[in-house]
Amino acid sequence: MRTVTLIKGDGIGPEISDAVMRIIEASGLEINWDIQSAGVDVIQEEGTPLPARVLESIKVNQVALKAPITTPIGMGYRSVNVQLRKALDLYANVRPCKNLPNIKTRYDNVDLVIIRENTEDLYAGIEHRIDDNTAESIKIITRKASERICRYAFEYAAEHKRKEVCCVTKANICKLSDGLFLDCFRQVGLEFPKIKQKELLVDNLCMQLVQDPTAFDVLVMPNLYGDIVSDLTAGFIGGLGVAQGANIGKYGAVFEPVHGSAPDIKGKNKANPTALLLSAIDMLHYIGEDEHADKIQKALYKTLEEGSFTEDLGGNLKTTEFRDAIIMNLK
Ligand code: NAI
Repeated sequence: MRTVTLIKGDGIGPEISDAVMRIIEASGLEINWDIQSAGVDVIQEEGTPLPARVLESIKVNQVALKAPITTPIGMGYRSVNVQLRKALDLYANVRPCKNLPNIKTRYDNVDLVIIRENTEDLYAGIEHRIDDNTAESIKIITRKASERICRYAFEYAAEHKRKEVCCVTKANICKLSDGLFLDCFRQVGLEFPKIKQKELLVDNLCMQLVQDPTAFDVLVMPNLYGDIVSDLTAGFIGGLGVAQGANIGKYGAVFEPVHGSAPDIKGKNKANPTALLLSAIDMLHYIGEDEHADKIQKALYKTLEEGSFTEDLGGNLKTTEFRDAIIMNLK
């Protein structure tokens, strides 16, 4: 039986994790969940929001499913999510954005993938106060990280039979940092002559995306733009409740939704578990459980086709009712 690290997170994390565990179990797949807690709840006892045991578990199992963890805003400890990606060198954040059945949105036929660099940029967390009225945050862009994320994007495109990779930067303003990222894209792009290559500034990308998201295929970008643009693209397919993601490294992967811990709906049995479930489906493919992954995806699609939705999608199902509807469709 395969062991997978499970981080249930906080906020809505435990509710959606339980739903996903139950659905996977009902599909007939036995997984030995190595449940690891992290975040604000463990600080008092363990002195850190990200204890070494969590990293150790993922290193040993090489795969994890992770629900969101709250990060204090404007103060407090560094994001556990960011620390984890950095500590395990999960350098590629892959965020597919594709219409789901029967979810009415402004656009049909959206099918794009954001590949976000996951280890540096302003997320390096190097910032300090110069004086009471001035703060400085340092944007780190290296050739090593930029080349490998651009290579990952081209390899992803080749493997998934995608036609184009678009590099997104603000190299007109951040001439040295984003300029280096763009230079790496151009250099690595020479190795992939069969894949169409495009370059856009991030502001122009946002305008073009809202005009016609179907015009985009694979997008590669530094960390911060990837974070913001992927919330934007989640809006094309029904919102954060359905936007999946994966953090991929050389030695392991952590699958997690794009959304956060949604404290506004915590404990209300309202959260949509779809984003975590889609992330789990990707995780099952990653560990070679294609049959179960396809079975669960079919049951999810059937449930959506029947018009069974949680509140975020205009329905009236509770998290547990939506979970049970999927489980029924597994049979
Ligand atoms: P959020 O993604 O938690 O919520 C934004 C809005 O989307 C809220 O109205 C929420 O109710 C809704 N929403 C999110 N997920 C949903 C779901 N599954 N079903 C139904 N509605 C859903 O973003 P917010 O409020 O900016 O962040 C809350 C906390 O989450 C912060 O501490 C933030 O740092 C953390 N966060 C953690 C992430 C992670 O663990 N990877 C990623 C993003 C944010």
